[in-house]
Amino acid sequence: MIRIAHISDTHITSESAYKGYAYDLIVSEINRGNFDFVIHTGDVTNQGLREEYERAAYELKKIQKPLVVIPGNHDVRNVGYELFQKFIGPLNGVFEFENGVVIWVDSTIPDLSDGRVGGYKFKWLKAKLEEYSKREFKIIAAHHHIVPLPDTGRERNVLFNAGDVLDLMLRHEVSLYTCGHKHVPNVYRVEDMVVDNAGCTSCRKTRKGDVNSYNIITLHDDGRIEVTIKRVTGERAKKEREPVRPKIFVPKEKRLFRIVQLSESNVSDRVYFRRKVLENAIRTINERIKPDLVIHCGDIVDMGIERYYEKAYEFYEKIKAQKLVVPGHNDITYLGYDLFREYFGDPNILEIGRFTFIPVISAQYETPIGVVGRIGQRIIAKHLEEYRETFTVVVMHHNIVPIPRSRERGFLEDAGDVLRMLTREKANLVLTGHGGNSFGIKVENTPIVNASSVSWELHRNPYGNTFNLIDIYRDLMVVFEVQATWGSGRLLGMWKIKEPFNP
Ligand SMILES: [Fe+2]
Ligand SMILES: [Fe+2]
Repeated sequence: MIRIAHISDTHITSESAYKGYAYDLIVSEINRGNFDFVIHTGDVTNQGLREEYERAAYELKKIQKPLVVIPGNHDVRNVGYELFQKFIGPLNGVFEFENGVVIWVDSTIPDLSDGRVGGYKFKWLKAKLEEYSKREFKIIAAHHHIVPLPDTGRERNVLFNAGDVLDLMLRHEVSLYTCGHKHVPNVYRVEDMVVDNAGCTSCRKTRKGDVNSYNIITLHDDGRIEVTIKRVTGERAKKEREPVRPKIFVPKEKRLFRIVQLSESNVSDRVYFRRKVLENAIRTINERIKPDLVIHCGDIVDMGIERYYEKAYEFYEKIKAQKLVVPGHNDITYLGYDLFREYFGDPNILEIGRFTFIPVISAQYETPIGVVGRIGQRIIAKHLEEYRETFTVVVMHHNIVPIPRSRERGFLEDAGDVLRMLTREKANLVLTGHGGNSFGIKVENTPIVNASSVSWELHRNPYGNTFNLIDIYRDLMVVFEVQATWGSGRLLGMWKIKEPFNP
């Protein structure tokens, strides 16, 4: 068993101003506890100044355990990354222990609060993950968060290439991603990986009137990982993860439901719109796939003008199956808000047998950034509660988890709170369609599937224009991505279905 103390965001200032009460309390607790080592995920200092680093070096020496320290955005202010290396240590590195490894990455960008794991560093990280692939516990530590966090206000300061980093970690079976930055303690399970955010160990900028805290990570010999959020008030919150192996499932009984999920048709007369590809896709859907429901996750037209809506309507009229269309930000440009309703109707809750589809309007005028809002979140939560006995599918345009190959900018303002609400209320499936690439991951018990563009040339999918095919069985859900031109498929994800859905 390995026990790690995870501290973060100490924001140490120069001697006169620094109030180290919480810090001293937590450090003495750590020194008394049986920890194997300590990880500090950045913002050691407040402004990256020399006197702060001098003070920080003194404060960090109080920790009587092996210590891994990662730079945060505050540490690299005022070219503080030079001082970090002088007073604290290397910006990137590897810490080996018994049956595991911590690979730490400097995710900062000088003078910005946002994060990045740039090209060369990304390659370095990949090489390290390959080098240490045999280790039982692979831990990646960085400053910036990887999935949206609740209770942080507007979703921002994310890792620009969060989607790529997340994808890389899942492919290499990373056991734990550990970070800080937003001053909110939180633990998520993303697929088989634990995402552990530390709160703020010793500065006053906590959220929602919270107190200072640190996280306790326990790596058990049988592969279990336990994370406990320990507040200075003594309050504890515990989360546990057990690895699922093997990951090959076989469905019991026959298929219950088949969904086709499309997005970003962007019907228009622009050269980027591939009419033939869309026609092909619709033919494949009608003749070969024969779904129970077709869902279009936004941007059915490229611009909200009548001519484009007329065309889009003509295409989608040809689909024989029942349809559910939610608007994206392109759909509501110009007169699109009204045209969308005229041609496709107001998206409403759809009940089909034991399945409930809950459309969410997240698009805003003239911006690719979406929002659900606090009232919207409450309404969706109520619907999820109301339809708990059925299989609930939440449908919206904006992605709530980062998408590989796209630059993450926080496409849903309140992604952190929305993600918490959807996972807390145990939505059975969430379908999104922004970012131009397909991606499917499970956060807590909720699979989240993003559709790529079906017929727009400007996409980010190496597989080309695609749509998703989702088959639901009693105990299992399988998601394929179907190439829109060739009709060939590849597996995007496969997840077990747990209670309470049980038809
Ligand atoms: Fe911070
Ligand atoms: Fe930070």
